[in-house]
Amino acid sequence: MTTPHTNITNGASVHAAAMALCETPCTTKCNCRSHPECAGEIKRLMNDHHQRQLSLCSELESIADGLPDHADTQHMLVVSRSLYSTVKAAHDFEEKRVFPFLQAMGLEDEAMAQSLERLRFEHWEDESFAEELSDGLRRQVMQGDEHSSETLSYMLRGFFEGIRRHIAFEVEHVLPIMMNSQKASQ
Ligand SMILES: [Fe+2]
Repeated sequence: MTTPHTNITNGASVHAAAMALCETPCTTKCNCRSHPECAGEIKRLMNDHHQRQLSLCSELESIADGLPDHADTQHMLVVSRSLYSTVKAAHDFEEKRVFPFLQAMGLEDEAMAQSLERLRFEHWEDESFAEELSDGLRRQVMQGDEHSSETLSYMLRGFFEGIRRHIAFEVEHVLPIMMNSQKASQ
């Protein structure tokens, strides 16, 4: 994983760069992509998406643990319906609000560009995986056998472990940068 972007976290220059890209005054709910005052609201919404995805991971883990003998088919169907949309909504938010905000703070920063590229690629991979898993859960309920339940369990673990790693990186390296920007603006 790429190293954190510690070189873009210092105060006044970050604030100035962000302000230069924000032409009109805005509030924390203005949908702005660069104003430092928006960092707190963006962080809060990003946390909400993280929590929804972590809850999804816990549900997927309980399904994996229950296969094959203690499968709750109703639960599997419910989760299969929300799986893709939960992940996609989080990724859309990050790519439309969080990443542009970070780019506005560190346009010259190569490490930042590489990290965002990597996160975007992981989003794309996870969305494809989510679609596959959603189908897999439905298939398992309709026509699954012991062999397919082992495969599904393996896939579920690969998916939620990947999502947890991705979120841990964002919590450790992305959110602190946003909060430093907010502090610099105060
Ligand atoms: Fe992400």
